[in-house]
Amino acid sequence: MRDGVERFYHLKNTTVSLVVDCRGSQPAIAYFGTKLANVSESMIEQLDRHEAPASLPVEAAITLSPTHGMGYLGCPGLAVRRGRQQWQISPQLVACETSELELRFISVCERLSIEITHCLRLDGETGVLALTTTLKNADPTTPLSVDQCLITVPIQDHLSEACELTGRWGYELQQNRFQLPNSSLVRENRAGRTSHHRHPSLRLLSENTTLGSGDALDIQIAWSGNHTIRVEQLADGRRVMQAGELLEVGELELGPGGYYTSPECLLCFSDNGSNGLSQRWHRFIRKACGGHFGSAYGNPDRIHADTVNSQTVHSDTIHDGASNGAISVSSQETRPVQLNTWEACYFDVNEATVLELIDEAADLGIERFVLDDGWFRGRNNDQTSLGDWQVDKHKFSSGLSPIAAYCNEKGLEFGLWIEPEMVSPDSDLYRAHPDWVLGFSNAPLVEARNQLVLDLSREEVTEYLFESIAALLNEIPISYVKWDMNRDIHQMENAGGHRAVHRQTTALYALMARVRDRFPHVAIESCASGGGRVDMGVLQYASRFWPSDTNDALDRIAVQRGFLSMLPPELMGAHVGPSPCHLTGRQYTMNLRAGVALWGHMGVEADIRALNKADRLTLEAAISLHKQHRHLLHSGRYVEHEQSAQQVAWSVVSDDQGEALSAVAMLHTPTTAFPKRMRFRGLDGSKQYQVQVVWPQDLSEKQVDFRERLKSQCFGGDWLQQAGLALPIMQPESMLIFHLAAVKHS
Ligand code: GLA
Repeated sequence: MRDGVERFYHLKNTTVSLVVDCRGSQPAIAYFGTKLANVSESMIEQLDRHEAPASLPVEAAITLSPTHGMGYLGCPGLAVRRGRQQWQISPQLVACETSELELRFISVCERLSIEITHCLRLDGETGVLALTTTLKNADPTTPLSVDQCLITVPIQDHLSEACELTGRWGYELQQNRFQLPNSSLVRENRAGRTSHHRHPSLRLLSENTTLGSGDALDIQIAWSGNHTIRVEQLADGRRVMQAGELLEVGELELGPGGYYTSPECLLCFSDNGSNGLSQRWHRFIRKACGGHFGSAYGNPDRIHADTVNSQTVHSDTIHDGASNGAISVSSQETRPVQLNTWEACYFDVNEATVLELIDEAADLGIERFVLDDGWFRGRNNDQTSLGDWQVDKHKFSSGLSPIAAYCNEKGLEFGLWIEPEMVSPDSDLYRAHPDWVLGFSNAPLVEARNQLVLDLSREEVTEYLFESIAALLNEIPISYVKWDMNRDIHQMENAGGHRAVHRQTTALYALMARVRDRFPHVAIESCASGGGRVDMGVLQYASRFWPSDTNDALDRIAVQRGFLSMLPPELMGAHVGPSPCHLTGRQYTMNLRAGVALWGHMGVEADIRALNKADRLTLEAAISLHKQHRHLLHSGRYVEHEQSAQQVAWSVVSDDQGEALSAVAMLHTPTTAFPKRMRFRGLDGSKQYQVQVVWPQDLSEKQVDFRERLKSQCFGGDWLQQAGLALPIMQPESMLIFHLAAVKHS
């Protein structure tokens, strides 16, 4: 019985179309791409091919959750078990609930007593498609093990290349473009956190896709635990992408009546190349940050199950987070320039030092002071004290309240670093509760950065953490928390003897949500040894990311490009670090370091007391330049220009194209005397622009001439984009920043 199910569905916004084929036993995406005017059943039927030699008479459809029972020979989207002999899942579509931009397909597998709901929601403004699968164990007595629940979508033939975000600690989010294999591409993350190595996203492109043209399709999994993304070419030539949470065998068991909703997989399509795609993501996320994010993401029935054993997912694990509503910081909010103490003093923080830094910060125009690691009991190095979240009275004899109050007096907000999920073996917490950590039976505990992971599936642990955090936030006027997580989860056995990562991730979300609910004025930054937790899942609770521990300006340009390919600049922590850079030992001018950092949510992470006069003035000027343009930077359209090995360039253009801030960076020694002309992007070809050099302040003599000549000229937007702006000679490791303002016609 199919209750009101049409043969196919066509959802569209102004730019994209989604066509779902429901002729078979399960819904299957027939098309997701550039908007189509009309679709008829005969068009979909034409996709059905004739019998191929040595194949089934009718090839199996690539449904949202294909299984072997349907004759599908690729990786199954669903794998479940009830005992040892019930695994043959064969769902039948029975109903569809529709609204203008949402489809909910309900299927039932009677033999296994399972109900499956596929939810597809198209964002009207951006065309971002959010997909989830909900599995319900409808059996009244026996539990159901879920081994795999991946969203499956077919990929159009011409999308034959991929670009991944990959890297390592200190060099995250590097873009790597390659040809898709004829077999399978499998990206699996088992780090127990989002990871530095495999960002939970993938970009698919055609051979001809460039920055500004051609088709491009992104997927992002809104999840901070283990994940899988596969792209498989089937024997018949069709390509399939699958994505979702990576579940280890036995990790997820649903009690009778219990259900699991997969993390949202977000698909974003553009036929305007990778710039078009980035801009769609940025718009989508900004809109979500403006209040819709919670409703889009906070699916109240994401995970629900009654308990069968301690491994079974509890209904309460995610409800706190789900009911939480909008994300913490709206896109309109002005993001304060911050000073972070980490690379300024590491663990050597104390009242006197901190007060000096606050004075200096205020003089520089900094607006938020963030006390990083080292402030709590006995934390003099990375070998002790995680878990003991009380202020170290040797360092701060009167606690942190007077420090925060001093900040406020000086016009600065106060922020604090914490790493709640961790414990040091050398801590009072661990001495009192050695059983509170994740481990691995029959193997000694493995420490990383001298720390162990707390078992968040134990209620007493999350209770302790919430109370510790609440005590700090109640007592001290804190407006910002840097929430860190500094190790992978290698040993994932929890108190119940089960694999913990799924529970750990949902419990983390619930804890963050609880903190957000109780302290809505406190913004949370997501950090995990730099960019180990940059994803759309944690973005429900956090409003800033720390993309990398490297403050090396050149490396940062690459990290920032990767970040901005999917996430908007205002979410991107970007700090001016010391020279030489602590991670790479390289030295750059303050002009370059500050010029690179001002493109995100700007901060400084260096001992500003030790700056020489010239650097200090330069930094002050960069902070002021950032403040002058931060509204544009944090609301405009990010666009990359043509790149070469030596020279990269980008702009942020206001929505009305009346204004832009643009940068060109000379990374290495140029191979020619002059840089390549700067061909702008994103401007209005019919407008006239005045172009001003706004950075750096101390230009070479020839560059000063260049700047002065620009003052008396105007350029057509079409000229700037097609012919380009001729540039003066630039030194390696230097940059120029331009401000473009459209000239008003009188
Ligand atoms: C991690 C973070 C750093 C800093 C240190 C403190 O490495 O990424 O920014 O906060 O922890 O221990």
